[in-house]
Amino acid sequence: MENRQQWGTRAGFILAAAGSAIGLGNIWRFPGVAYENGGGAFFFPYLFALLTAGIPLLVMEFAIGHKYRGSAPLSLSRIHKNAEWIGWWQVLISFVISTYYSVVIAWALSYTVFSFNLKWGEDTESFLFKNYLHLADKPGQLGGISLNVLIPLVIVWIVTLGVLYKGVKKGIELANKIFLPTLVVLFLIIVIRAVTLDGALEGLNVFFKPDWDQIMSGKVWIAAYGQIFFSLSIAFAIMVTYASYLPQKSDLTNNAFITGFANSGFELLAGIGVFSALGFLAQQQGVTVDKVVSSGVGLAFVVFPKIINEFPTLNAFFGVLFFLSLTLAGLTSLISICETYIAGIQEKFGVSRTKSVLFGGGVAALLSLFFASHGGLYLLDVVDYFINNFGIALAGLVEVVVIAWVVRELNNLQEHANSVSDIMLGAWWKVCLSVITPLVLGYMMVDNIRTNIK
Ligand code: PHE
Repeated sequence: MENRQQWGTRAGFILAAAGSAIGLGNIWRFPGVAYENGGGAFFFPYLFALLTAGIPLLVMEFAIGHKYRGSAPLSLSRIHKNAEWIGWWQVLISFVISTYYSVVIAWALSYTVFSFNLKWGEDTESFLFKNYLHLADKPGQLGGISLNVLIPLVIVWIVTLGVLYKGVKKGIELANKIFLPTLVVLFLIIVIRAVTLDGALEGLNVFFKPDWDQIMSGKVWIAAYGQIFFSLSIAFAIMVTYASYLPQKSDLTNNAFITGFANSGFELLAGIGVFSALGFLAQQQGVTVDKVVSSGVGLAFVVFPKIINEFPTLNAFFGVLFFLSLTLAGLTSLISICETYIAGIQEKFGVSRTKSVLFGGGVAALLSLFFASHGGLYLLDVVDYFINNFGIALAGLVEVVVIAWVVRELNNLQEHANSVSDIMLGAWWKVCLSVITPLVLGYMMVDNIRTNIK
C-alpha cells in the first residue's frame, strides 16, 4: 500500500483523537444536557451510552481506518465499492460544521483579546455579545462583518490550515501536543477557582442532585446517546481518518477506551466548573441556580462574562483563561473536522496536500464569512440545529447498519482489532453495534422527526 503519513507516537494519536473529541461541546453542551436530563441521575444513561455505543463505535471507526488505510470515503470504498458515499456524506457534514465552528472559535479568540482591556467589575455593558461582536440575531440582516470577528476568523483559519498543511506528524500531532495539555492546565485553574467561589456548592448541588423519576423517560436516554455521539466526534469521518495514520502495530481497542474516558473526564470537569460558577452567579444576583442556567453560545459569551465580571479579583486573568480555553478546545476539534475533507479530496483527486488544503480550506473559510457577518448568529443556529438533529444521527445510523448488516464487516473488523490490541473484543461488541446502537439511533431519528413535525 502507498506510503502513508503516520503519527510519530502513540501519545500523539491519542492526544489528537482526544483533541478532536474535547471541544466546545464538552464545555457548553454537556453541563446543560446533564442538568436538564436528571442531574446526577443522568450519569447512568450517559455511562451506559458511552459503554454500549460510544466506545464500541470508536473501536469500529479506528478499525476501519486502520485496516483500510484511507480517509472515510476511501476506506469505506475499500470495504465495498458502493459504500464510498457514506464517507462523503460524513465528510460533507464535517465540512458544513467547520464553516460555523470556526466562527465560534473566532468569537472566543476575540473575547480573549478583549478580556485584557475590559474595565472588569464596572463595565458590563460593553461586554455584551451583540454590542461587541455586532451580531444581530434576527433573520434578514445578513450584512457587513465586524473587524472584531473578521480578524480573529482570519487568524483561526491561518492557524488551522497552517497546521494541516504541515501534515500529520509535524502539523496535527504537534499542535495537539501543545494545545491539549495547555487547555487542561488552564481549564483546571478555572475549575479550581470556580469551586472555591461563594455559592459554588449550591451550584454543584443543583448539578448533581439526582432526579430519578426522569431516568425512565426516553428523552433522557436519547439525550445521553446524542451527547456521546457529538462529544466523541463519531460519524463525522474524523476517527476513521485519524486512525488511518496509525502504524501497523497499534492497540486500537485500548486507544478507544483511553480516548473515550479522557473525553468524559473532561466533560465532567467542565460540568463541575460551569455549575460552580453558575452557583456563584446565582448567589451574587440573589436568585436560585435554576434561574441562571444556560448553555451554548449564551453560556459562553453572555453568562460567563457576567460571572467573571463578578469575580472578587483577577477578572482579566480569568477572562483570558476562560476564552483561551474555549479557543484551544475549539481549534483542536476544528483541525480534525477539516482534516476529513482535506484527506478526502487529496485521495480522491490525487492532488497534493497543499492544493487540497488551499482548495478545501479556502472554500470553507470563504463560506464561514456568512456566519461571521451580521445576522450570522441566526443562520448558525438554524444550520447547527439541522446538522445535530438529522445529519449526525442519520449518518451514524447508516454507517452502523451498513457495516453490521449490509456488508457484514463486523467479524473482519473484530478480528483486525483483536490482532493488534490487548483488550479482546467479544460478542458484546457486535451486539452493541448490530443491535443496541441501530435501535437507539433509529429511535432517535423517529423521535426527531416526530417533534419537528409537531
Ligand atoms: N466533539 C467536539 C465537541 O465536543 C465537537 C465536534 C463535533 C468535533 C463535530 C468534530 C466534529 O465539541
